[in-house]
Amino acid sequence: MGKFKPVVIVGAGVLGLTTASVLQDKYPGIQITIVAADVPLVPPVAERERPSPDYASMWAGAHLRPTPGADRQLGDEHFLARRTAAVMKSLARSNPESGVQEVDGREVMEYLPEDKQRLKTGDSYVGADDQFRILEAHEIEAGGVWGCEYKTWIVNVHVYCRWLLTNFIRRGGNVVQRRLNSLDEAFDPSLFPSSPSSSPSSSWLVVNCSGRNFDTDEKTNVIRGQTVLVKNTYHKTATRHNKDDTWSFLIPRPLGGGTIVGGTKQHGDWGTEIRPQETAEILAAAAKYWPDFVSKVEDFEVVMVNVGRRPWREGGMRIEREELGKGRVVVHGYGAGARGYELSWGAAERIAGLVDAGVVSAKL
Ligand SMILES: Cc1cc2nc3c(=O)[nH]c(=O)nc-3n(C[C@H](O)[C@H](O)[C@H](O)COP(=O)(O)OP(=O)(O)OC[C@H]3O[C@@H](n4cnc5c(N)ncnc54)[C@H](O)[C@@H]3O)c2cc1C
Ligand SMILES: *[C@@H]1O[C@H](CO)[C@@H](O)[C@H](O)[C@H]1NC(C)=O
Repeated sequence: MGKFKPVVIVGAGVLGLTTASVLQDKYPGIQITIVAADVPLVPPVAERERPSPDYASMWAGAHLRPTPGADRQLGDEHFLARRTAAVMKSLARSNPESGVQEVDGREVMEYLPEDKQRLKTGDSYVGADDQFRILEAHEIEAGGVWGCEYKTWIVNVHVYCRWLLTNFIRRGGNVVQRRLNSLDEAFDPSLFPSSPSSSPSSSWLVVNCSGRNFDTDEKTNVIRGQTVLVKNTYHKTATRHNKDDTWSFLIPRPLGGGTIVGGTKQHGDWGTEIRPQETAEILAAAAKYWPDFVSKVEDFEVVMVNVGRRPWREGGMRIEREELGKGRVVVHGYGAGARGYELSWGAAERIAGLVDAGVVSAKL
């Protein structure tokens, strides 16, 4: 046995995988088992392998849009997002095969909420050197009242999750693909057959990165998202916020992954079926707002229509240590909603911080 208490991470989404990476960095030799119903597939992910709509990490764009906000939750998320951006930008340079890439971001709004009014050209919101600037009135397309540009990052989610998984295994991590009926089953002795203890429940620590799927937390819900993956590749990430609170966006996927054309955000809508009407609206809006991408809807080469459910939680992510009795300790890290990639490294470092006391004090 190593000198640290073993850890079982439930979940192989971006949060479980990133947390595993942070723990392996912090505690060389630590024994970690990821238990997950769904694990990253080999990219490119094809229609016939369609991951579950509840495996949110497979359905994200994904990009970072800076959203510095005034309230406590947005403020805290902004802190985590800035930390994540620093890691992502450095990964884009050192490990482009991870699927992370630096890119220009542009947003146009048809209305001007208070939190945008406070933003200023020259301030940094993604991180240092993001070249953030508010657009001049004449630069904004018809119908828009406010806009901004900045340097940000995008990620090919399939390549990236697979890359994280491969690194985890290469560094000695263990993966068990299994659906658990409850989190308690993560304390099952069969997960660590070699465990020396007669009271298995306290011989390892469990990290709960299950998205929202166990549904025993009353604060969780879903935000349905339908998007369209097209083969065409746009050169930046762009978002248009409409007056009725719908939006359109383009998120290119690095390494030839095409572009995610989006998309819906439907709070509390549990429907997992593809809605053809939404597909048509999404593509029509994108053709209208970004004529420099396609000149007409028919120019889109559709690869796949996506439906995913974002693991939303009221008040934001739950990052917390909990004692479940009989020596069982769990550290939660779930409920990232629409921001799992944006917050991933900052959140994972915080989750790993709560794991500390449990793994280091262990006398094995
Ligand atoms: C359309 C769309 C667009 C998005 N765009 C962005 C974006 O641009 N930027 C961004 O940051 N985020 C985006 N997101 C959100 C992002 O995808 C999520 O926040 C993130 O993937 C959540 O990751 P997670 O690891 O918490 O959960 P998940 O990826 O859902 O992973 C959950 C893991 O837990 C496992 N699990 C669950 N239940 C069980 C069980 N009973 N037994 C065993 N294992 C279990 C699953 O198998 C899986 O491995 C988007 C989401 C959608 C749907
Ligand atoms: C673990 O995470 C899920 C979200 O997937 C949540 O509903 C649940 O309350 C958490 N804790 C336990 C003990 O299952």
